[in-house]
Amino acid sequence: MVSRFTLGLVAILCASGAMAQQTDPGPGRRLAERYCTSCHEVRPGETGAGPMAAAPSFQVVARMPSTTQLSLHVFLRTSHAGMPNILLTEQEIDDLAAYIDSLGTPQK
Ligand code: HEC
Repeated sequence: MVSRFTLGLVAILCASGAMAQQTDPGPGRRLAERYCTSCHEVRPGETGAGPMAAAPSFQVVARMPSTTQLSLHVFLRTSHAGMPNILLTEQEIDDLAAYIDSLGTPQK
């Protein structure tokens, strides 16, 4: 028999999992540092190996009015100019979008 306690616990775990995905930019930053620094400035004020002039810094991307979690998801599912085909999982796309989006809001 499934107790009420178990159901409550499952609900809490699901909710906290969803929130972590929304607010924790950590995993996305690590992914970005691994895959994107060759072209993009990933962290504000920190120049990577040699950012391509054409590739906007992620902070610039985050501050564009057109940038939303949805636009980032759509963008990251398609390959972009000069970007090698980096195969990202849904989870990685979520994490990267959360990280880039977080740069648009002042750091806490
Ligand atoms: C080989 C170079 C290269 C790599 C690696 C690269 N990008 Fe880009 N990226 C670009 C260039 C060039 C542009 C600007 C032209 C364009 O939008 O297609 C761009 C644009 C973008 C934009 C802006 C889209 C918009 O709305 O204008 C996002 C977001 C982005 N890249 C995310 C990423 C992420 C996340 C990674 C790592 C997983 C990554 N890029 C890796 C070259 C690269």
